[in-house]
Parts: sequence; structure tokens; C-alpha cells
Amino acid sequence: MNLEQIRGLAFKHLGKRKSHLYREPGFIYYHGQRVGEIALQLRKRILPHQPEFDDVILVASWFHDLGKGIEPHWEYGALLAREILAAYCEADDLERIVEIIGSHTLRKQGESYPDYVKLVQDADILDHFGTVEIWMNFLHNAYSKGTMLDSVRFYQEEYSHHAQTVRELLNYSESIEVFDEKDRFVREFAERLKIEAEGGLMV
Ligand SMILES: [Fe+2]
Ligand SMILES: [Fe+2]
Repeated sequence: MNLEQIRGLAFKHLGKRKSHLYREPGFIYYHGQRVGEIALQLRKRILPHQPEFDDVILVASWFHDLGKGIEPHWEYGALLAREILAAYCEADDLERIVEIIGSHTLRKQGESYPDYVKLVQDADILDHFGTVEIWMNFLHNAYSKGTMLDSVRFYQEEYSHHAQTVRELLNYSESIEVFDEKDRFVREFAERLKIEAEGGLMV
């Protein structure tokens, strides 16, 4: 696979697309790029001697939300990816890429997935936490004309339950470790946000 060529293809399809009312145009391109980086770092930590599917993991990550906007987006995305990538990948690689895209949301549903699927499933979750989570929250409020206090309220009332639910979907203990570090940062940030949004001072 010619990765740079395929990255260009991903940008062509996703780089400017507005896939979600409350997210910036191109979100699914940049999200896909980050998911690819995260998935490979997880692979190196969890399966250090199994690099054979790295390119498959990367390309599937780049395109995993290709179907966003038409639900179920993982199924629609798998169909689209098969067409778009057919001329760029070997048949075996393409099958695995389509498998990853088609099951990236089907976490912990009784089926056992190969590692190359589980790594992307976890990376997808991890990219929604930490500073990216804060970015998405602020952007959501910007697009929906919310105030700073709406973010404060979200972190006080909804964030914990959401984080807890999603944490349980992670496949590997290494992913949970990364998640927990991101989660600690967001909670600390949220505490300060609450204080400063009401005019409080830290010292
Ligand atoms: Fe998705
Ligand atoms: Fe995603």
C-alpha cells in the first residue's frame, strides 16, 4: 500500500467534510489521523512483536468514520471504503480494512474480534478523551451558542457517567491506563473551569 497516496485520498474524501452539526469541517479526517497514531502506539505497547497489520490498522483508522452521517455509519462506511480503496490495496488487506471499519463500534458484544480490530476500537474511544474531549465540548457549545457555564454544567453533571460507561468498553488494560490519565486531566481542568467561570481565583 502506498500510504501517502492513501492519506491524500482520505483528505480528498474527509478533509473538508462537515459530518456533524456541532463539530468542525474535517473533524473525521483529523480524528481518523489521530486514531491511526493512537492505534499504532497501543499496538507497540500491547503486541510489540506483531507489526504485520500496521498498515491495515493505519488505513482503516483513517477511514473508519467515512460513513458518518448515514447510520449505521460503520456498515455504510465499510461498503464505501471497499469501493474507494479497491484500487489502492491488496485483496487481503482490503478485507481486513473493511472488517475493522465495519466493526469499529461493535465493542464487547459477545463476539471476539482480532487484535487489529480491537486496537482501532480502543484508539477511537481514546481520541474522544483528554484535550480532544475538551475541544469537542467547547466546540459543541460554540456551535449551539452555549455559554461557559454550559460547559461547567456538563462536567459537573454528565461527564462522569459518560466517562464511566465508555471506559467499560475498552479492550485492553493498557488502553484503560491511557484513558485514566486523560480522565484525570479533564477532571482537574473541569475543577478549575468551574472556579474561573464564576470569577474565582486559584491563588
Ligand atoms: Fe465511528
Ligand atoms: Fe470515530
